Amino acid sequence: MRSGLRSSFWFALTTSARALVVARPLGGASASSRSAVGGVRGLAASATEYSLADQVARFARAKEEKNQRYLDMDSVYDGSGFKGKRVLVTGGNRGLGLATVKQLVADGAEVVVVGRKSSDELEALGPSVTVITGVDMCDDAAIAALPERVGAPIDIVINNAGYFPGSAEGETLQDMNFDEQLKQIDVCAVGPLRISSALYNAGKVSKDGGKIIIVTSQAGSVDWRFTQCPEGGNYGHHMSRAACNIGGVLLALELKKAGVPVVLLHPGFNRTEMTAKYSHIWDIEGAVESSVGAKRVLYESLRATMEQTAKFINCEDGLEIPW
Ligand SMILES: NC(=O)c1ccc[n+]([C@@H]2O[C@H](COP(=O)([O-])OP(=O)(O)OC[C@H]3O[C@@H](n4cnc5c(N)ncnc54)[C@H](OP(=O)(O)O)[C@@H]3O)[C@@H](O)[C@H]2O)c1
Repeated sequence: MRSGLRSSFWFALTTSARALVVARPLGGASASSRSAVGGVRGLAASATEYSLADQVARFARAKEEKNQRYLDMDSVYDGSGFKGKRVLVTGGNRGLGLATVKQLVADGAEVVVVGRKSSDELEALGPSVTVITGVDMCDDAAIAALPERVGAPIDIVINNAGYFPGSAEGETLQDMNFDEQLKQIDVCAVGPLRISSALYNAGKVSKDGGKIIIVTSQAGSVDWRFTQCPEGGNYGHHMSRAACNIGGVLLALELKKAGVPVVLLHPGFNRTEMTAKYSHIWDIEGAVESSVGAKRVLYESLRATMEQTAKFINCEDGLEIPW
């Protein structure tokens, strides 16, 4: 059971581990205090309704409810709001980022892709895509020079680039890699702040409805560690996303008076290179093709307004994730 728990991205839970969820009140009402149909027992109707920490139960509930949005995003997605918009995507050369760029092109957006390198698939997307290479998310100088290279202001900045090294077994007390922990924090937490501040300070976030999206992960929820990592582990990954989340909230608060929403999105479980080490649980935990994950992220990006600012949202069901 020990290695089974460790081998899951967010840990497919055994029945006994699931039972532990009930007792965990940290960070407000636990997911388990809500009924299967989303009612909240013992709380005012206005209390936040959170997504479920247990990914297997979450997927099962979506099937039980025939949740169209969760199970068939293709049938719900309408990307017409992106037509004519300028959207910047970091890490758009592969994985979820590439799928996001492809979808934005299909929706009629003008896309600026920022990253270390391009890819054949990205280059094949045609003239509505501008690819800016040589930009590592940890490279202060390259990012300081980015606004000059971007051209006109951006309507939606999508901070998508991320880094999650290591094996399916994950990092443990016995094999901590401090350099990798710091690198993950640098890429996943400081990276979005570098990109967003450089663009905003240079006037490259549109003053007419511009918004900032940060693709983070449910891995950054402290509350959900008790359910998803009952034995701890994977320090760098989880710490980097918790740091990312607090950075995103502070940015959202600072940009409130400017009317720029900053929304943190968990993109759901996607079948990409990053999660290939967990391919054995892709089906059990409802992992989707990156084309579906991209639509989920873009669906929430269109919904991102000042009402949503500083929220941490699960793109699978649109519900908030507790910090
Ligand atoms: N896949 C999932 O199920 C899942 C779940 C939760 C959250 N996420 C988040 O979603 C985002 C996309 O994930 P993915 O699955 O598409 O990952 P992926 O397949 O590993 O792609 C990662 C992307 O980030 C870029 N990147 C990594 N380190 C970088 C750096 N130092 N500087 C610039 N770019 C860098 C990569 O570019 P290079 O080609 O240059 O390496 C690549 O474009 C990530 O932020 C990830 O944490 C994914």
